[in-house]
Amino acid sequence: MIDAVIIGFGKMGKIRYDAMIRHGGYNITAVCDVNEESMADYPCKKYSDWEKCLDETKPEAVIVCTFNNAIPNVVCNALERGIHVFSEKPPGRTLADAKTMRETAKNSSGKELKFGFNHRYHNSVIEAKALIDSRILGDIVCIRGVYGKAGSETFAREWRNDVNISGGGILLDQGIHMLDLLRYFLGDFTSVTGAVNQLVWDGLPTEDSAFALLKTDAGKIASLHSNAIQWKHKFDMDIICTEGYIELDGLLTSTKSYGEERLSYYRKDLEMKTGGLGNPIEHTMCFDTDNSWNLEIAEFYDAVRNGSPIVNGTPEDAVKVMELVEKIYSAGRGDSLA
Ligand SMILES: NC(=O)c1ccc[n+]([C@@H]2O[C@H](COP(=O)([O-])OP(=O)(O)OC[C@H]3O[C@@H](n4cnc5c(N)ncnc54)[C@H](O)[C@@H]3O)[C@@H](O)[C@H]2O)c1
Repeated sequence: MIDAVIIGFGKMGKIRYDAMIRHGGYNITAVCDVNEESMADYPCKKYSDWEKCLDETKPEAVIVCTFNNAIPNVVCNALERGIHVFSEKPPGRTLADAKTMRETAKNSSGKELKFGFNHRYHNSVIEAKALIDSRILGDIVCIRGVYGKAGSETFAREWRNDVNISGGGILLDQGIHMLDLLRYFLGDFTSVTGAVNQLVWDGLPTEDSAFALLKTDAGKIASLHSNAIQWKHKFDMDIICTEGYIELDGLLTSTKSYGEERLSYYRKDLEMKTGGLGNPIEHTMCFDTDNSWNLEIAEFYDAVRNGSPIVNGTPEDAVKVMELVEKIYSAGRGDSLA
């Protein structure tokens, strides 16, 4: 068993807790949150001060699920104590934060640091990656992605839109998952442009819309619209390959608010062997389970206990994706789209 504590025990802390219990390889010795009420129903030791929690429990691993502003401090402090760390995304508020955590991990004599980019573990994404790697659809050449939020009555007051706490708006909060997927599928982007604005939520210090256009050295192209003005939850990704096409539509979550998770694909059929012009036979897979939390916590366990390499959410992934976020912000912040 890995003795572990969870710091930050809101929505994500509880999701991680449940996944660790399901996994069975973790002994959760304590949870910690500045808001004591949020830990009320949980049967383990409770702390409101994370340093005291680490001092007294001396865990082998820590799961960090605080607000973004606390992440770098907790991550670096834990690594310096010789504790393995699994942290929520985003990797801090800035690129500098991500780099500091990467350096601290490098100097931590082999302690693991993993970030929770759980979208890579969604079933539709796993299947898309397998299809791409099989090359039956040829080479992937471009991707269009939309990740949109409905907003809510409390949206403007959420900590996510307090730039001192969050570090950014919808791009850093949610679009970062899709940026990570774009990198996962297409590789590193060397050209990045963007436009970022408050198109509707006037007065917020953070953007409600970020558009990005990204290009690799090989000329592959991706576009992204990350937004909080969709007025409905939406996850949609079109992946165009030389010999076919893949669409990811919807994303299974506990609330099912992003709709059913589906992957559809078809092969290029210019001779119309499988259907009429413009209408080739399409194959669709629907997924009714979200294993992402289980798979992430299992990958972290295997790294800590068995020395398996961390493949997803590495400190390098964190720095690369934060480079994209900062480039989009610096290209687009303050632009008027009018
Ligand atoms: N992987 C994902 O898909 C995903 C989804 C949602 C949120 N997140 C990330 O998870 C983190 C937490 O988000 P959430 O939705 O759980 O928010 P939340 O508001 O539900 O929970 C955060 C908790 O952290 C506590 N906290 C903040 N600072 C603290 C500190 N210094 N010490 C102890 N506790 C502290 C707060 O009191 C709160 O209870 C954020 O970084 C967020 O970006 C990731």
